[in-house]
Amino acid sequence: MAEDRRSLIRWLLGGGFTASVISFLYPAIRFMNPPRIPEAAVNEVSAGRADQLKPNSSTIVRFGNRPVLLIRVAEDEWKAFGAVCTHLNCTVQYRPDGHDIWCACHNGIYDLNGRVVAGPPPRPLEEYAVRIRDGEVVIARRV
Ligand code: FES
Repeated sequence: MAEDRRSLIRWLLGGGFTASVISFLYPAIRFMNPPRIPEAAVNEVSAGRADQLKPNSSTIVRFGNRPVLLIRVAEDEWKAFGAVCTHLNCTVQYRPDGHDIWCACHNGIYDLNGRVVAGPPPRPLEEYAVRIRDGEVVIARRV
């Protein structure tokens, strides 16, 4: 009888220990190996009202999970580029004084067609299409 009780207690303690180990290890393993979440297919986004951005200025717009640099070059001229530098992935910015796109990390410079003008970036910026629809700026993937 006493032996049965001891083996029952050993079994319960062993099970509790195993459950504790699993409860600590499972979250750690899930953290190190997260499930793959596919990127949502985004083909166009609204960047707000056209009259909110002055000529020769810019803003960053989220395009799915990517930043896009929207530039209002002139009253009726708009440009949009992926805002991630092709060198080491810093975020680029529009320079109104130089009318160019600048990456502050290593002084990379792109022109307003996204082409590399100076610095280490190896490739041009990805360009997006910009349309004005009923006063709203719409950025879309180029096809
Ligand atoms: S990350 Fe942009 S120039 Fe290096």
